[in-house]
Amino acid sequence: MAESDTIDPGLDPVGRVAELRAAIAHHNQRYYEADAPEISDADYDELVRELALIEAEHPDLVTPDSPTQRPGGSASAQFAPVVHQVAMMSLDNAFDDGELRAWGDRLVRRIETAAQATFVCEPKIDGLAISIRYEHGRFVQAATRGDGRVGEDVTANVGTLSCVPHQLPAGAPSVLEVRGEVYMPVSAFEALNARQDAAGERRFVNPRNSAAGSLRQKDATVTASRELALWAYQLGAIEDGPSFERHADTLEFLRSLGLPVNPEIRSVPTLEEVYAYCREWEARRHDLDYEIDGVVVKLDDLALRTALGSTSRAPRWAIAYKFPPEERTTPLRAIQVSIGRTGRATPFAVLEPVFVGGSTVGMATLHNEDQVRIKDVRPGDVVVVRKAGDVIPEVVRPVLELRPEGLAEWTFPTTCPACGEALVRAKGESDTFCVNVDCPAQRAGRIIHFASRGAMDIEGLGEQRVYQLCDLGLVADVADIYTIDWDQVLALEGYGELSVANLRSAIEASKDQPLARLLVGLNVRHLGPAGAEALAAGFGSLDAIMVASEDTLAAVEGVGPIIARSVVEFFAVERNRIVVDKLRAAGVNLNGPVGGVGAVLDQTLTGRSVVVTGTLAAYTREEAEAAIKARGGKSPGSVSKRTTAVVVGDEPGASKLTKAEELGVPILDEAGFETLLETGELP
Ligand code: IVH
Repeated sequence: MAESDTIDPGLDPVGRVAELRAAIAHHNQRYYEADAPEISDADYDELVRELALIEAEHPDLVTPDSPTQRPGGSASAQFAPVVHQVAMMSLDNAFDDGELRAWGDRLVRRIETAAQATFVCEPKIDGLAISIRYEHGRFVQAATRGDGRVGEDVTANVGTLSCVPHQLPAGAPSVLEVRGEVYMPVSAFEALNARQDAAGERRFVNPRNSAAGSLRQKDATVTASRELALWAYQLGAIEDGPSFERHADTLEFLRSLGLPVNPEIRSVPTLEEVYAYCREWEARRHDLDYEIDGVVVKLDDLALRTALGSTSRAPRWAIAYKFPPEERTTPLRAIQVSIGRTGRATPFAVLEPVFVGGSTVGMATLHNEDQVRIKDVRPGDVVVVRKAGDVIPEVVRPVLELRPEGLAEWTFPTTCPACGEALVRAKGESDTFCVNVDCPAQRAGRIIHFASRGAMDIEGLGEQRVYQLCDLGLVADVADIYTIDWDQVLALEGYGELSVANLRSAIEASKDQPLARLLVGLNVRHLGPAGAEALAAGFGSLDAIMVASEDTLAAVEGVGPIIARSVVEFFAVERNRIVVDKLRAAGVNLNGPVGGVGAVLDQTLTGRSVVVTGTLAAYTREEAEAAIKARGGKSPGSVSKRTTAVVVGDEPGASKLTKAEELGVPILDEAGFETLLETGELP
């Protein structure tokens, strides 16, 4: 048993089982009904696995409605319910070669003659399971899997798929239910996103989500515009049709009726060949124009299938071998350095865009100078890229075999790419800084931060627009936002009357934001949301904070000496006081909650545990922990299966990150952390 499979002995199984079931139900809803999953498939699988493991050790805790006993989805109220004539089952998973072999061995032990043990190997299509019903050869109904027993009626939608015949050839069975996967070809997905880009609309994250979203449309003309396809892989109900002995023959029959059956499906006579097929497709998965996330192995002999039967959730005669998290290789075009609002110079990899772990990656942080040296990645290398915890893109290593001879090592620039001033790396520090406070990149960074969701939350004032306004000299500090010359903006490309009107009203509305948000937006070093809230609640106005001594500030619960010193230093700088004057003149709210008492925060993290590792930009470690606790959560020092998420800043602790990956705990960047604090949901 792998280390991650063991149960923490200190754990209360009853509580944990309830927790896991609630989490699984939530994620089922996000995946099957909202088509907007919050966690990766691997993370989801890990939850089910942990639940199954506890139930195996405590059989008394198994209930018929446990997610281990039935497939994941449920029908939503949006579509009419359809009862499947034959239940649509799920599959058990094997996550590595060992688990696959264990399944094979178990199966073979139960089988009497070797002749029975032939298999059909099928690519596991990453789409949406569908059952299609034909009566007397006519397409009459299509339904999603739902909870396996009752699905959703998507007849009109599936009817728009060009590869689904509406009429089968003469002599078709009087009833035929066929199961398959609706998917979006990768090429269609890319074309769809190109169209979304052109229309200025939101991009789709991956082919599976866009297939599910496209199919489950109230208006089937939307489905028709989305180029969906189907692979049929399983016979459901059949009446007045031929009888079959082997699964391979059923597939051949479906093919003969004009249904699309995947040509990569192969019958193999031995388990060794099953394993070889899995290895082959693990290596070749990207040769296909559709996404696969594993291989489905099915016993070919149908009589034997019936004899083996099923658990309430999945058949014993089939298994889904899931591919491990993806790594892809791609050329490293360049290493560039970005300058943040604090002046920190962060190197990042500019990659030939590559589709990995469910989305396209074109950039990945390299953290700092030492990290680049340790990884020894050089522009011109081909590098291995993966998603840390399926979220944050990461350059793993160079492929040394492919390194061109004499490829030069990358050296950290000595001057700031934005302002040309010298970059400074203090002795003993890992970070390098541009120390010119007038650096245009820092200025833009400060304004972007001021307008961001965690601070003044000005919708429509994102990075691109801030850069544009800065380049044109329309804004130089955060207060200039309130005195923009809008006639000049209207003359710019990309700004219509409506978008300018929207932006102006968002800026106007931000004047009434609470003091704590303004404090966060001012870019005081070390001061994040929790400290800002404590200060706003403790002092009640910006003026009071500006004149308070270091000791008075530090005496406020949740502030402490580091923030206190930083606040005093910030307001000692004349240019910062001028910014405050400009904000006051513009009518921005500088007062805190009435009576100086902080409002109780939404308890978004009740009962959850969030581990923080590495340096965050807007929070000290204490602040991050205080922010979690202030919302009802816990922030322990180590990662366990009960950890809701691990928040990763710069230079995270390797052991925490590895542990999180091992346990499938979601990994969040700082933006994800903000979302989690605010909404309690994983982004
Ligand atoms: S057979 C009882 N074959 O994987 C057997 N499923 O994890 C039912 N899937 O719900 C499924 N490709 O959505 C089967 N070639 C294939 C498949 C496949 C993808 C999906 C299907 C199923 C899920 C189970």
